[in-house]
Amino acid sequence: MKIIELKSVSKRYPGSDVNAVDRVNLSIEKGQFVVIVGASGSGKTTLLKMINRLIEPTEGEIFLNGENVMCTDASEYRRKIGYVIQQSGLFPHMTVRQNISVVPQIMKWKADKTERRVKELMDMIGMDFDEYANRFPRELSGGEQQRVGLARGLAIDPDVVLMDEPFGAVDAITRKRLQDEVLELQKRMHKTIVFVTHDISEAFKLGDRIIIMNQGRVQQYDSVFNILFHPANDYVGSLLSGENMLDKLQAVKASEIMEKSEALPEVNDINTVRENDSLKTVYQRFILYDISCIYVVRDNAPAGVIDKKSISALTRSILEKEAEERI
Ligand SMILES: Nc1ncnc2c1ncn2[C@@H]1O[C@H](COP(=O)(O)OP(=O)(O)O)[C@@H](O)[C@H]1O
Ligand SMILES: [Mg+2]
Repeated sequence: MKIIELKSVSKRYPGSDVNAVDRVNLSIEKGQFVVIVGASGSGKTTLLKMINRLIEPTEGEIFLNGENVMCTDASEYRRKIGYVIQQSGLFPHMTVRQNISVVPQIMKWKADKTERRVKELMDMIGMDFDEYANRFPRELSGGEQQRVGLARGLAIDPDVVLMDEPFGAVDAITRKRLQDEVLELQKRMHKTIVFVTHDISEAFKLGDRIIIMNQGRVQQYDSVFNILFHPANDYVGSLLSGENMLDKLQAVKASEIMEKSEALPEVNDINTVRENDSLKTVYQRFILYDISCIYVVRDNAPAGVIDKKSISALTRSILEKEAEERI
């Protein structure tokens, strides 16, 4: 089911003679993790803020659950959507508990309901209530601030969560941990997430679907696999040419390339992978052990199968393409 739909949406800022976002058409399915990636200035934030109605499009229409968002009250609408921004965007003069309670309070939740929700969210982000609830943002590390920002965005349990470079300001180790946590959260809560980043490896790690933007336009909206192996144009291709072959294989999940199948005969550690294991793992198994197919399991149940023939044709074509490019 489509949850968000944009129809030829453009934004031109006053005084500018180009569109910051230019005739964007896209639809996002409920429960998907969509990552928008592009260089600075490519229109990512403008696009996200239009979905959130913080910016009104100059042209085009946006639908949420099939309803034209321009026909709903802006502040009412915005509360249906969680918003998590760079450097957490916490209010410096408010404690952790007050920051997380901002939207519930606007929604006039009762105090005890808000308190329960704050506890629940702090538990979810792994921060001890007694220790952290009354601290101010300046008394937290960058990673902790970002976690609180996430909790605040999820406070009223919105169906859609928009995240604008949320991990841009934290160190690499914290970033990796936050990425893993967000993936885990999305799996558990089935949120629809639209996540903006300028980091292509972050995009590949997180996204089910990737939107590549350049100069306000969507260059390609596709699976990780297709972005890597079937780039829609030279721009997308050039963006990825720096990535080496094994990194590419690493970025593709087994679930993307399997044929759906519920057959699961004689499984063992060698011929079985999990849905999130990478194409690299699959490829290495074929090379190391002489097996003809690999089974993919999801939550311990059979989900699909990958045939050695299909993968060797694929990797052969990758290798050939790389060789051609080097000549
Ligand atoms: N409030 C604004 N007024 C005028 N121009 C803006 C404004 N915000 C962004 N822009 C311009 O719109 C383009 C897209 O910006 P933005 O959406 O912030 O890109 P990104 O998030 O990809 O870095 C840029 O050229 C930027 O300078
Ligand atoms: Mg931006």
